[in-house]
Amino acid sequence: MEIIVLPTADVAVRAAAIVTEALGNARAGEAKASGTLGLATGSSPLGLYRELARAQGSGQLDLTRVHGFALDEYVGLPDGHPQSYREVLTREVCGPVGLDPANLHVPDGSGNRLDELVAAAAAYEDSIQELGGIDVQILGIGSNGHIGFNEPGSSLSSRTRVKRLSDRTRLDNARFFARPEDVPTHSVTQGLGTILEAQALVLVATGLAKAAAVAAAVEGPLTASCPASVLQWHARAWVVVDEAAATGLRNREYYAEAAAGLDG
Ligand code: GLP
Repeated sequence: MEIIVLPTADVAVRAAAIVTEALGNARAGEAKASGTLGLATGSSPLGLYRELARAQGSGQLDLTRVHGFALDEYVGLPDGHPQSYREVLTREVCGPVGLDPANLHVPDGSGNRLDELVAAAAAYEDSIQELGGIDVQILGIGSNGHIGFNEPGSSLSSRTRVKRLSDRTRLDNARFFARPEDVPTHSVTQGLGTILEAQALVLVATGLAKAAAVAAAVEGPLTASCPASVLQWHARAWVVVDEAAATGLRNREYYAEAAAGLDG
């Protein structure tokens, strides 16, 4: 795991550079490389998406053949709801970064019955496998340490499944809805085991509100109580945070030295 602490303005730039490089390397040897990018929602990765859009605009990056896989989707929002993650990703990612909406895969949260949602979760796992797995997974972190919608207590080997949202998460996400009670109670989310199978993980976090979660994820024990701590188990994981989000880290000096490479 590499921990990179930067001024806020540089976080998105560095994270986008890591994503671009990892995506480029992932299938470089394949004749028809298309690549798969795991997409997080929330405000944390927006700057990273803006950077990818800038790279696309200037011809440094071409995502037109890349497939995007959402981390999660709310259960029960009507088709086309502006806060459904399919809509959010179509609006905020596909258009700007040049990812074909036909190549956007999002778990289907439209089922009314549990068996429909369970089947949708299994189909989502299959769709990831069919395209050879996820090359690079972009992640944010919830203030309670969740990734995707894997709330505290999530099995470390969980697969895509229906997950109840915690009150904390619903409160955090209420800002996107007209009324707090409009926030859905459930989601279909990639599991922690699913996320761990991505070739590379890039987590971004900014702001003081994420400091405790980042410290628990990076320097706390590997535990279901902090789902983001599974990054410690992954061989190619980057955690890119700003000074405020790094406030709780004890080993910052070492991370800075390590990030300097052999010159440091
Ligand atoms: C939601 C998403 C997560 C995201 C989290 C943090 O709960 N399901 O993938 O990481 O929000 O969001 P933000 O970046 O807006 O703080």
